[in-house]
Amino acid sequence: MSNARIVVVGSSNTDMVVKSRRIPRGGETLLGSDFIMVPGGKGANQAVCAAKLGAQVALVARIGNDLFGESSLANFRQAGVNTQYVTRDSNAPSGIALITVDEKAENAIVVAPGANYELSPEDVDNAAQEIKQARMLILQLEIPPQTVAHAIEVAHNAGVRVTLNPAPIRPLARDILKMVDVLTPNQHEAAELTGRAGEGSELDAPSAAKELMAMGPGSVVITLGNRGAYVTDGYINEFIEPIIVKPVDTTAAGDAFTAALSCALAEGMNLSDAARFANRVAAIVVTRLGAQISMPARSEVDSFSFGN
Ligand code: RIB
Repeated sequence: MSNARIVVVGSSNTDMVVKSRRIPRGGETLLGSDFIMVPGGKGANQAVCAAKLGAQVALVARIGNDLFGESSLANFRQAGVNTQYVTRDSNAPSGIALITVDEKAENAIVVAPGANYELSPEDVDNAAQEIKQARMLILQLEIPPQTVAHAIEVAHNAGVRVTLNPAPIRPLARDILKMVDVLTPNQHEAAELTGRAGEGSELDAPSAAKELMAMGPGSVVITLGNRGAYVTDGYINEFIEPIIVKPVDTTAAGDAFTAALSCALAEGMNLSDAARFANRVAAIVVTRLGAQISMPARSEVDSFSFGN
């Protein structure tokens, strides 16, 4: 059991998920099948995942003063996440994500960020002591850029390692990337950040990772879907084998990967072993429908029987 202290600064949403044969085209109405409403949001998914893996997790987030926020809060508490720094916004509603999941387990997501976009640098300052005592700080990009930048600075100046999951993608300033210890884009985000988005073919992970490293982070871990992952810290340059499972829903697989990688690093694992562990956690998540409800406990990861 890990006792690593982790702080996540990020978003919390309620996910409205519809299963559909395929993702609808623009202007098209499709009849889907199952519907579920479940807790999501990249930040909250990562916090719940890390807590279920045994870390001591505090979440810094903003929810609305509504039933969605109430239910997210109850879910964090049930997962053992410290909610002391989750604040309620009296004007903005809780974040919502509309998600379609197709037969191949791929998804399309639209987020109405609501209160997530009110999470401020002052909210980070209120949690500064917690951040300074943590082993790792984890961030994503569903909250205002200035809040992300401030949190990274607070952690970096205190010698706390920072994981940045650059999702949803947006341009990142080099002075911010220099303070990031672990950058975890998926292949599309890595392509976007390195100007390869138009190339169309499979990402050349080693060269994209090299270019990302030149932007300043201490290490880069690119998730490659069914091609596994690629890790580099300038010394280690390694492909991590994919784990073959029957996918049901890929939603939050990247969140699980980032959280598990950070937990493993906080526990003292090296980068390659941490990525292998994160791969196992993400593989379990894709076999289940929904975001936070799919996150496995540590004991499940240890006992899960994978196909390969
Ligand atoms: O990464 C998956 C998450 O993206 C979903 O839970 C949704 O809320 C969006 O934030």
